[in-house]
Amino acid sequence: MAFDIPGYINTAGRVQVDDLDLDAFAERPLSAEALRCLRYMSDVESHTVCYLRDVLVTPSHRDPDVTAFMSMWAFEEFWHGEAIDSVLRAHGQKADYDHIREVREAQGLKDRLAPIYQSIAANAIGDDFVAVHMTWGAINEWSAHAAYGSLIEKEQHPELTKLLGRIQRQESRHLAFYASQAKERLERSQRARSLARWVTERFWQPVGSTIQPVEETRFVLRHLLGDDAGAAAVRKIDEKVHKLPGMEGLNLVQRGVADFGAGVPVADTGAGRRGSRKRLIAGAAVVAGAAGIAAVRRRSAGSQA
Ligand SMILES: [Fe+2]
Ligand SMILES: [Fe+2]
Repeated sequence: MAFDIPGYINTAGRVQVDDLDLDAFAERPLSAEALRCLRYMSDVESHTVCYLRDVLVTPSHRDPDVTAFMSMWAFEEFWHGEAIDSVLRAHGQKADYDHIREVREAQGLKDRLAPIYQSIAANAIGDDFVAVHMTWGAINEWSAHAAYGSLIEKEQHPELTKLLGRIQRQESRHLAFYASQAKERLERSQRARSLARWVTERFWQPVGSTIQPVEETRFVLRHLLGDDAGAAAVRKIDEKVHKLPGMEGLNLVQRGVADFGAGVPVADTGAGRRGSRKRLIAGAAVVAGAAGIAAVRRRSAGSQA
């Protein structure tokens, strides 16, 4: 069933926090592990506008369905960060715009280059890039939903459950949009299927890992997904990814989690994959180069016809 975009944009909104009993955290604080995970989650949610910057320089910005969704998506994710920050502050932790500024400044040169290489690569690829973007988004939203679910289960704190349950309901709508768009776009283009498989297999990494220190990602993945229940949740995400056209058998999330020492090691499918931002830049350059050459060839073939 197609995603109801008018229905979504008319009902998207700030996650409700006004009725949360933040004093309950003074009586029964969350564990230190949960607070460390929440910090990571808040950093990722607050970084959404930067992810938005990186995709608005790609062909995704030409599709009004995508931009209608993304306008509301960024708004809702912003408030997820704010809501989690209120829980951190209730525990006496610093959670303000100075912290967000520190996270952004820590990204350094790679952050400044990201919109440039992403724009070159994605525009050279053309509309099939949007299928990659939607596939990537679906995997990340499924992952976020599972991470919040795990934290709810581990803490069993009524106020945290209330807040994260509401955030999860919004993540469910995000993942429904991305997954329906990905399915549709992958179904109609063999090139998009090959590209989405190739790009995600090599470059997809667990949510937040590109902006956080390795030890933070490792901690969060081990804490939230490192036990049997976590492994089952990760397998479930991979099963959903495998149902997308052309994405069968990748085990991306299981392998991504295992790369950080959480979960069970999964057999490699043989492709060179994953890596540092340097490899991502190199990969983007390769994709851009190949697509650029193909475009020039098509143009010169057209002019000769
Ligand atoms: Fe979120
Ligand atoms: Fe989301």
